[in-house]
Amino acid sequence: MGLSDRIGRIKPSPTLAVSAKSKAMKAQGIDVVSFGAGEPDFDTPQHIKEAAIQAIKDGFTKYTPASGIDELKESVCAKFSRDNGLNFDKSQVVISCGGKHAFYNLAQVLLNPGDEAIIPAPYWVSYPDMVRLAGGTPVIVKTEENNGFKLTPDTLDTVLTDKTKIVVINSPSNPTGAAYTKKELTDLGNVILKYPNAWVISDEIYEKIVYDGYTFVSIANCGEEIRKRTLIIHGVSKTYAMTGWRIGFTVGDAAIIKAVSMLQSQSTSNPTSIAQKAAVAALNGPQDAVSKMVSAFHERRNYTISRLNRMKGVTCLNPQGAFYAFANLNSFLGKGYKDTRLNSGYDLATYLLEEVNVAVIPGDAFGQKGYLRLSFATSMEEIKKGLDRIEEALGKLSS
Ligand SMILES: Cc1ncc(COP(=O)(O)O)c(C=O)c1O
Repeated sequence: MGLSDRIGRIKPSPTLAVSAKSKAMKAQGIDVVSFGAGEPDFDTPQHIKEAAIQAIKDGFTKYTPASGIDELKESVCAKFSRDNGLNFDKSQVVISCGGKHAFYNLAQVLLNPGDEAIIPAPYWVSYPDMVRLAGGTPVIVKTEENNGFKLTPDTLDTVLTDKTKIVVINSPSNPTGAAYTKKELTDLGNVILKYPNAWVISDEIYEKIVYDGYTFVSIANCGEEIRKRTLIIHGVSKTYAMTGWRIGFTVGDAAIIKAVSMLQSQSTSNPTSIAQKAAVAALNGPQDAVSKMVSAFHERRNYTISRLNRMKGVTCLNPQGAFYAFANLNSFLGKGYKDTRLNSGYDLATYLLEEVNVAVIPGDAFGQKGYLRLSFATSMEEIKKGLDRIEEALGKLSS
């Protein structure tokens, strides 16, 4: 067909593919319970919508600077100063079309062919492909469940080289919910600092969705030297139930931010003007809607994790953040039902979707075999129904 080599390096996002399949089944009238979504089921808070409506009424509907409006950059600086004790100047902020775009742009401006990006697994599905698109080489580093799926300094030390350009830290993590302590991040930072070419991309998109009194900390809080080497990506999608608005941001080294702004000026131009105004209202306005969503997620997490751990053959770590359960179903691999043998997470997910109409994401998509990711960003009623169905379906499998 004459497509570029570049596009041949990537595959469609498996999470979006599962969501699309379950939506198509729903459209046919099938009662699908979906644990697939990577987005809050809540509506965007009213005052944020009002700000966007006001922007339209005011005619704020033209191009803005490609890197975003000053008002939003100032709100981002205020957020980091207030919430994280980190002081940034506007020249250190660029507004992008979501957190995904923020990572994509960083990969584009940082990576040359042969450069390596260290990605701890299980990882958010899009990191390796965005690295490949940029011509870089993803170096996938396995983490261990018995260590809470966290990267250790010793393991990191074995994979860092002079070719390492990026180290990805995603805390709290999608898909495992692992959230690092300050000590753990400081130890990782000390290893990274031995390699002068390496930048940390700290994906903090789930910062506000944390449980059990976990206090969020950024690797940028772990000393002046590592702060200078850290590029934080963040956004309003998850915190404010604004996934469709497409506003994310990157903060850090001014020269890299300038390069990202230039890239945007020759690619997407500015993120939507109206959505930028909505994001200002989100960051500067009342935060009570956030705590309400987080306490709902907390309750659902407690229910989901305890139900999963009570199912025969299933174990699941308690996520400290984000809204996903990453369940270990290795004991079911090799088992079967009628003529079908289940040999991977993909097989398990297909079995659950076809047999009991439950949509989950196979762990294989995140670089971890034998696991399933269940998003509990859906109503308690759906969660109960879906878990009942999973339990029933797993009960039918035999060796
Ligand atoms: C870890 C992680 N980073 C970034 C994003 C991207 O979010 P956005 O919708 O703002 O592009 C997601 C969304 O699923 C995510 O899980």
